[in-house]
Amino acid sequence: MSNLIKIGICGWGNVATGLYKQLSTNNNLDLNFEITCIGARRDNPKCDPSPIKIHRDIFDVIDDDIDVLIELIGGVEVAKDLIERALASGKHVVTANKAVIFEHGKELIALADQYNVKLLFESAVCAGTPIIKMLSNDLQANEVSKIAGMLNGTTNYILSKMEEGESYEQTLKNAQELGYAEPDPSLDVNGTDAAHKIGILSSLAFNSSLPVHGFHIEGIEQITQSDFIFAREFGFVVKHLAVAKKTAHGVELRSHPTLLKSSSNLASLKGVRNGIQIDTDLLGEFHIAGSGAGQESTASGIISDLISLSRTENSSSMNMPEFTNAVKIIPFTELSFRYYIYLEVKDKSGVLAKVTKIFADQNISFDKVSQKEQLSDNKVPIIIISDPINELNMQNALKEARCHEEILDLKIIRIED
Ligand SMILES: NC(=O)c1ccc[n+]([C@@H]2O[C@H](COP(=O)([O-])OP(=O)(O)OC[C@H]3O[C@@H](n4cnc5c(N)ncnc54)[C@H](OP(=O)(O)O)[C@@H]3O)[C@@H](O)[C@H]2O)c1
Repeated sequence: MSNLIKIGICGWGNVATGLYKQLSTNNNLDLNFEITCIGARRDNPKCDPSPIKIHRDIFDVIDDDIDVLIELIGGVEVAKDLIERALASGKHVVTANKAVIFEHGKELIALADQYNVKLLFESAVCAGTPIIKMLSNDLQANEVSKIAGMLNGTTNYILSKMEEGESYEQTLKNAQELGYAEPDPSLDVNGTDAAHKIGILSSLAFNSSLPVHGFHIEGIEQITQSDFIFAREFGFVVKHLAVAKKTAHGVELRSHPTLLKSSSNLASLKGVRNGIQIDTDLLGEFHIAGSGAGQESTASGIISDLISLSRTENSSSMNMPEFTNAVKIIPFTELSFRYYIYLEVKDKSGVLAKVTKIFADQNISFDKVSQKEQLSDNKVPIIIISDPINELNMQNALKEARCHEEILDLKIIRIED
């Protein structure tokens, strides 16, 4: 039988109420626990936890008779304060909050060490799909060289629905109603949420420090339904990918839309699923995939942390990352990609030759070019798949192309080979 742990839950939104439902109804749990209290500044009509004690001031949870505080309020500053005070009061903390771990994980882990308690965050990346403990413990014998993943369930849900022909706006609304999207969905769709997660995974895999700033982050706001149609013609699907890769020159870190080969493992993952490909020396390339958002999946990750805490006689024997080694992040402009280039040009002679020259001046050659049917207003779409080229050359070509009045619209999506 595991040790009894007394739990205080802070926050009473999607994840907290989903966790409560699992803890109160799931008969399969090998967890000896008691929910002592909940910190909720207001009731949630979707879930009545009575007769459990409610504190309207979430900070009062710390002073109650608890062993572990579960932080589920989200955001950075108040969450950081709450976690700090709980750790300093000798309480373990479990959190699903990637933003606070990304920004303050290093100092919070140090604080937990100082007070001989634990800060666990399995559900902060990919919700319940197990990746944090895998990188911290199970892969210890391996050298990880690359992690590439679809790390945001909302983004993958939206892109999958757009691939089926639904609109961006409607699918974002559905994702919010289903509880997949973050309280502020702009962090999902602008790539920041996936960037936080790949930052955390990069520090676990490569022992790098947190927070890490200045790496390339781009969202899915510019993706349109026609991109899916054109990409399909060339054997690709549109996904949002976050990548951390260790090279001899440092660590490559990025979070942006990509074209993936339709036949690839990650391309086949639809809906709210998250998928990660990990390259290691001993295991080779392997994949994990699972639901990366939502009440049940997140509850699964939080409960796995509670079980770890309850099974550990001496919590100081549990592995926690340090996030302290500063590694060099390779500037994005030094990376090299093949590109999908979408242009809308005026329908007049000589324009394609002009486009070709602009890119050729930056040593960019084309693997495939496809001119599409004329749109309204005399506009013609052209789709180009480039050969591999340095990002800086591509940025220069885009800057030059935007100066020409015949080029009416222009965007790129990088191809992940
Ligand atoms: N949703 C998912 O699928 C998912 C997956 C993995 C991880 N997470 C993480 O889990 C955490 C919670 O997400 P969620 O979806 O449950 O969010 P949510 O539905 O918006 O719930 C947040 C809860 O925290 C409360 N809260 C926020 N700020 C507070 C403050 N300053 N003081 C007191 N209470 C405060 C809110 O109260 P009010 O209702 O009064 O505002 C609400 O009860 C976030 O860190 C998120 O990143 C979510």
